[in-house]
Parts: sequence; structure tokens; C-alpha cells
Amino acid sequence: MADVRLENVSKKFGSVEAVAAFSETIREGEFVSLLGPSGCGKTTTLRIIAGFERATTGRVFIGNELVSCSETNLYKPPEERNIGMVFQSYAVWPHMNVFANVGYPLKVRGMDKKKIREKVQHVLELVHLEGLDRRLPSQLSGGQQQRVALARALVAEPALLLLDEPLSNLDAKLRESMRFEIKDVQRRLGITVVYVTHDQAEAMVMSDRIIVMDRGYVQQTGSPRDIYETPANRFVADFIGLINFLEGNLVSTEGTEGVVALAGIPGPVHLRGRLHAAMKAGDRVVLAARPESIAVLSEPAPGAVPGRLIRKIYLGNEMDYRVALGPLEVRATGPAATDGLAEGSPVWLDFNRIVVMPF
Ligand SMILES: Nc1ncnc2c1ncn2[C@@H]1O[C@H](COP(=O)(O)OP(=O)(O)O)[C@@H](O)[C@H]1O
Ligand SMILES: [Mg+2]
Repeated sequence: MADVRLENVSKKFGSVEAVAAFSETIREGEFVSLLGPSGCGKTTTLRIIAGFERATTGRVFIGNELVSCSETNLYKPPEERNIGMVFQSYAVWPHMNVFANVGYPLKVRGMDKKKIREKVQHVLELVHLEGLDRRLPSQLSGGQQQRVALARALVAEPALLLLDEPLSNLDAKLRESMRFEIKDVQRRLGITVVYVTHDQAEAMVMSDRIIVMDRGYVQQTGSPRDIYETPANRFVADFIGLINFLEGNLVSTEGTEGVVALAGIPGPVHLRGRLHAAMKAGDRVVLAARPESIAVLSEPAPGAVPGRLIRKIYLGNEMDYRVALGPLEVRATGPAATDGLAEGSPVWLDFNRIVVMPF
């Protein structure tokens, strides 16, 4: 097991700054995801940790050992870093059966056959592939093939497991169950995991902490709850789940709260929210509110904002509402069981847990 420390790591490909000023510590036994849109630098960061890519600046430590340092030109190749890695494409050898695929890293190290057999059996049980050791990859489903890749990454008992979008080629249902399987394996082994994904739900379900990236830069690091409930900026708020942004002006502040006059709708409409940063009356601001923290009411209520229900969509477990506030459109959700609202009818929006962000 190992912790991982990156200090001021950056990577340039010509003029492209793939990763910039990346400084983070991943603790021993922790499951950390690198999350962000395509091209934000996740894979490059992971490859720098693995040693497949040399950083332009900075230092990388794996378990107190310096494995990469741009200043002294120190660079340990991947095979000296004691890591396991799983990629998006299954990358299992098609001509080798499951046993040979999984045992390969041990065979290369010259381990004796009996020991290899023991270790392979053990890791196949861990990923629920026991009994399939004689099958060829072509005789396995996509999910099983990806579990072979996972078993192969784990068989040499690496200190650190790196996974790069390992589930993105699987169908939705399998992806969902594999999330839990990977997490379960990580817990049982107590292994440190760095997991790359562009799928926020995946990162939320699996991670102890999430590092959100955009255009090479870390935008926020925190627990799934931190990231969802107190996003550091508009990018993070927008990337993690659905959120409404409504523009306005700060009318007054009181401690950590502020009252905002909404812009662009007949009013005045004033809403109270938690101030995201130091701001003063008169500032242009953005109100951020998650759909699930806006209740759609069929009657007026104190503080609720009048609007009109444009559209409602039944999602099984909940309703998805689109409500017009003047020219603005707000998305809200509510329980499907008690939905009695008609499209086109007047409604009142009761905003809760509003965050007031700088414009
Ligand atoms: N070998 C490379 N040569 C040139 N540019 C690259 C190379 N690898 C990645 N990039 C660029 O670096 C940026 C980050 O890429 P990457 O780390 O693969 O992002 P992600 O995994 O988040 O989608 C992108 O703009 C990508 O085009
Ligand atoms: Mg990538």
C-alpha cells in the first residue's frame, strides 16, 4: 500500500498545457477519482503517476519514494513503481486463456508455477471469475473481460491501482454493478486507487475524494458531498449534476447570507441564499439551486416565486418539472407519487439551499 504525492506537476505537449500546477496527496488506502470533461488532463495525470509519461515540471512520490523529479531528471519507469493499471479497452490477450492472462505478470517475474496457481486462483475469486480460468477472452462477456484485466492488475499485489475509465465500454447496467465490485475489491484489499472518469455519478458512488479538473487545472478537491453541496466555482457546480443558475444583484448581506433581487423577471423577486464568497451589496451575482432543492407548489406560499409549469416528465422515481419564471426556465424535481400538477397551470417555486456565487 502506498500514498501518492504530486508536487507542482505539469505537462506540456508542444503548446498544449495538458496538466498545470497539479499538487495533491492521495492517502494510503484512499479511493480518489480524477473527474472532468474530455481533454481536461485526467489520463495525462494518471500516466505521469504510472510513469508512462514524463512530467514537464514537478515531483511525484509513491509511498515516500521519489519516482519522478524534473529538476534532477530522475525518472523511474513503470515496472519499478509497483503499480497495477487498468485501461478503458480491456487489453486482455485474445490468444491466452483467463489463467494465462492473469498469471502473466507473475510468470514474467519468474515465480514458480505452484505459487502462480495459488495467487491466480485467489485473485479470480476476488473478482468473481472462479471456474472460468480455461476460457478464452472471446468466450467471455465485456464485463468478464474487464474483470480479467482487473485481476491481472491486482495479481502482483501492487501498492497502487490506477484505472482509466475502465467501465466506459460496458452497458449501463453492468457499469452500475461493476462500480460496486471495484469498490468492494478496493475495500477488501485496502489498496490505494486513483480512478479516472468523466462520469460524475461514477465518481460520486466510488470515491472517498474527487479531484475535479478543467483544462489542465484542478478546480476542486473534496468528498462527493463537498463537491456536490459546496462547489468551489460555477464550473464545478455545473459539471456535478444538474443545477439552475439565475442572475441577480445582491441587495443586502447578513453574516453568511445574502438577499438577491433576481434579474430579468417581473418583480421585484427577492431570494435569500448562502454567500459562497465575500461579496457586498450591489454586486452582480449568480444564484445556484439544485432541482431537488426547489419545491413546485400548486398554491402561493410565503417567499415562493410565481411561475408557470411548462412541462413535466415522469421519471418513475420522480418528476422532472420545467417552470417558466418570466423568460427564464427553471428545472425542479419532486416526488412522482404526489404529482397533481397540470402543464400550463400556475405554480409557485419554493427555493431552498440557494448558493449565491460571484457572477
Ligand atoms: N501525446 C500527446 N500529444 C499531444 N497532445 C496530447 C497528448 N496526450 C494528450 N494530449 C492533449 O492533452 C490534453 C489532455 O489530454 P488527456 O490527459 O488525455 O485528457 P482526458 O484524459 O481528461 O480526456 C488534451 O488537450 C490532449 O489533446
Ligand atoms: Mg482520458
